[in-house]
Amino acid sequence: MALAVTSSSAAISGSSFSRSGASSESKAVQICSIRLSDRTHLSQRRYSVKSLNAESHSRSESWVPRASTLTAPEVEEKDGEVEDFEQLAKKLVDASPLEIMDKALEKFGDDIAIAFSGAEDVALIEYARLTGKPFRVFSLDTGRLNPETYRLFDAVEKQYGIRIEYMFPDAVEVQALVRNKGLFSFYEDGHQECCRVRKVRPLRRALKGLKAWITGQRKDQSPGTRSEIPIVQVDPVFEGLDGGVGSLVKWNPLANVEGADVWNFLRTMDVPVNALHAQGYVSIGCEPCTRPVLPGQHEREGRWWWEDAKAKECGLHKGNIKEEDGASEDSKPAAVQEIFESNNVVTLSKGGIENLMKLENRKEAWLVVLYAPWCPFCQAMEASYIELAEKLAGKGVKVAKFRADGEQKEFAKQELQLGSFPTILLFPKSAPRAIKYPSEHRDVDSLMTFVNLLR
Ligand code: ADX
Ligand code: SF4
Repeated sequence: MALAVTSSSAAISGSSFSRSGASSESKAVQICSIRLSDRTHLSQRRYSVKSLNAESHSRSESWVPRASTLTAPEVEEKDGEVEDFEQLAKKLVDASPLEIMDKALEKFGDDIAIAFSGAEDVALIEYARLTGKPFRVFSLDTGRLNPETYRLFDAVEKQYGIRIEYMFPDAVEVQALVRNKGLFSFYEDGHQECCRVRKVRPLRRALKGLKAWITGQRKDQSPGTRSEIPIVQVDPVFEGLDGGVGSLVKWNPLANVEGADVWNFLRTMDVPVNALHAQGYVSIGCEPCTRPVLPGQHEREGRWWWEDAKAKECGLHKGNIKEEDGASEDSKPAAVQEIFESNNVVTLSKGGIENLMKLENRKEAWLVVLYAPWCPFCQAMEASYIELAEKLAGKGVKVAKFRADGEQKEFAKQELQLGSFPTILLFPKSAPRAIKYPSEHRDVDSLMTFVNLLR
């Protein structure tokens, strides 16, 4: 089902969807062509067939409120009644995914859709089917998915008799990116730019046609960014059909479900899954940015593995990144409390760390954290880093810190492999180059293993 956006002109050609219901057969896909001026009219026809992407998209990201600046109330006015989604999330905390799905579909009917891509999302579709209510499904086809993923999409369409509402990136934007920077620029300068073009902007367009969306996020999926996702919330980042902050509700029915239980459900219900799972893949995104994980590795380590943990939200769920992370350098509080303060942690100046870099044979190995005191991920690892420093005191490994934000940031990026905070480096005793700690597990045991293996 192809979709073409005719640059920034008012006319948009789009695909419309066919709804699936428990008893419904697969319905014909309708192709519609609408004008921007028709949008209001369309949006008022609650049960009319409408396209997810019934909105022109701006090439500027600037109107999107940063997570740090949002004060979206967790309430929504509906037919004169005020819905308090924070309260609702508390009420649903022990509800099953089936109950949550039922509630979401009941509340939003035709104005809600499941964001579909991976195993969790097949579970969502299965739960939706089990409610007996009609439901919609959309997917962001980035153009870089694995063949196995496209096969899964097809199998799901057939199994459920639905048409997935695909969203595609703007051809002109992809063209510009690829012509300027090549096909694999994300390995060089991070995945954010490509994700913005191929995922986030199409998602924004999709959400502008909805009042709510349903995702397969789980708390245990990403310890750094997803540990606090609620079952339902006013979307802290994206806008819905009615426009403005607070106009979109985000449901995460699997928030409290563990990965293993999702898989038990998928097996029990005998539903289609991505063939890549049988090859060691767990969390699956685009082909060049996903790889299998080894036994015991966290699933998220197979995504954008060349980057640091904090960067591992591609923008679809950037509201998960807490205030300080999303904040720009100049919006951080002027005075923040210093961290990693211990007699066993050496404070390095720029000159100090430059000397360390120059030495070919050090008397001792050095472990250095590149940090910013305002960064919550640095704060979160403070206790384990201090404990590690205590354990290593007098054992031939110096433990140090280097504040790498502000004026030092460029230097740290250029010379010290700084991606995001915290970055942990080991300067082994006899190797000239620092080795970057590649994992997001920053507990004492994991860090100690790293040090002992490479010192
Ligand atoms: S991502 O932000 O890192 O790519 P992840 O793969 O963990 O997200 O998936 C979390 C949820 O985001 C999925 O359960 C799904 O609801 C939504 N999602 C992720 N990728 C897509 C996609 N390509 N199309 C639609 N929804 C997606
Ligand atoms: Fe581009 Fe990789 Fe992001 Fe896919 S996951 S949109 S290929 S950077």
